[in-house]
Order: sequence, then C-alpha cells, then structure tokens
Amino acid sequence: MEAPLPPIVTVLPDPATLAEAAAEHVAAQAATATAARGRFTIALSGGSTPKALYARLADPAWRDAIDWSAWHVFWGDERLVPPDDPNSNVGLAERALLARVPIPAAQVYRVPVDAGGRVAVARAYEAVLRRVFDLAPGAWPRFDLVLLGLGGDGHTASLFPGHPALDEHTRLVVGTPPGTLPPTLDRVTLTLPVLNTARAVTFLAAGADKAAVLRRVLAGAPDLPAARVRPVDGEVRWLIDAAAAGEG
Ligand code: 6PG
Repeated sequence: MEAPLPPIVTVLPDPATLAEAAAEHVAAQAATATAARGRFTIALSGGSTPKALYARLADPAWRDAIDWSAWHVFWGDERLVPPDDPNSNVGLAERALLARVPIPAAQVYRVPVDAGGRVAVARAYEAVLRRVFDLAPGAWPRFDLVLLGLGGDGHTASLFPGHPALDEHTRLVVGTPPGTLPPTLDRVTLTLPVLNTARAVTFLAAGADKAAVLRRVLAGAPDLPAARVRPVDGEVRWLIDAAAAGEG
C-alpha cells in the first residue's frame, strides 16, 4: 500500500481570506463530486472556526453558484446537547448555513442527540451512515469531503489525546466523554477509519493559539489525534491563517 500523500498547506493572510479560500475549496470539491457521482457527501466540522466559512457559503456570491441539490450533509462530531444549545455543532451549522441555502431537508443528517446517552446516539448515527452510504457489513463510508478543526490539545472532531476511541477499528461512530478543553460535554465522533477513508479531508485552523500545536501536528506527532488523520487514498489539506502558521 502506498504511503499517504503529505498534507497540502495553504496559508492565508487573515481569517476573512481564509474563509473565502475555504468557500472556494468546498465549492470546487462539491462541483467535482457532483459531476463525477451525482452527489456530494460532506461531514461538517464543529467548533467556532468554520463559522466564517459557513457564512461565506451562505452569501449570495457563493450560494447562487453552488448546486445545493446534490449535497448530503453530515457532522464529524457533535456534543450531546439540543440543536438550540449554543454548544451544538448542528445548531451552529443550521444557523450559519443550512437555514440559508436550499439543501433538500432529507439530505441533512443531523446527529440524533435525543436518542439517549452517547453510546445510543453513536449507534443511531452509525445506522444513518450505513443506510445513506448503503454500506455492506465491514465497509467504511467514503466522504467526498470531511471538514475538521484543530483543538489546542491536538484533538480533532471529538477524538481526544490518549482516548481509546483513537484505536477504534470497527465502529463508524463512537461516544466520547468530555475532553479537557471546554465545552466539557459528552460527545459522539466519527472514528479514524472513517476519516481516513475520505477522498479529501480539509482542516481549518486560525489564530496564534493554534500555532504551536499545528507545528507538532504537521511534524507528525504520534500522540496528537489530528496527526493521525492520513487518508489512505485521499488528500489532506490545511487552510490556515498567518497567525496559526506562526507568521502573525
Ligand atoms: C468540536 C469540534 C472540535 C473543534 C476544535 C477547534 O466539536 O469541539 O469538532 O474538533 O473543531 O476544538 O475548535 P475551534 O474552531 O472553536 O477552535
């Protein structure tokens, strides 16, 4: 098996140009996937960094240039709170993007946080993935694009350093307890085999507070979950601002 390709790192001057570059990248990935396979499957990131990207995509300049009818929207992870909670990743994306673009409602697959505790929610979301991707037993869903962020401790999605979820090799979705960084909430997350089956993974990182951990991730630090996202047959791209690149 060939070694994964090295990450593609693009540094933008500031958060606004980062959001614009990310919107251009997502729109291009969507057009390519739709032309090739008739649909675009994307896993959205949580956290605050993608807010500016979602707002750009909802802006008429991008909204009117994208074929939203082909989008199938999932989440890379979710906190176990209702969508109207300010900590909800689903709620964040709905307010900033999904309520403002014409994606067919049946193609938006919200994490079913009302299914119970984190194990029940993880199982329920895994069932959604298996249905929508029409997976045979033992198969992994191959997302066209997975958007991810980077936590200050090197976590991504809700895969935290040292957590057994990092060694999950059977489940598509697992529950994870609160990490050490706020918000300290129970979560569910896509597992590394799912992330590493994607056609493309794009990390967004902004701000000087990410510079040190980003350097370690790009150097391949084995203890950092974000460094373990290396699709076997897909690209990893980092869209970062100058501050996160340590140039600020
Ligand atoms: C989450 C996110 C998480 C996030 C990073 C970065 O649910 O917490 O999925 O992985 O992307 O913590 O968060 P910021 O963008 O807020 O820095």
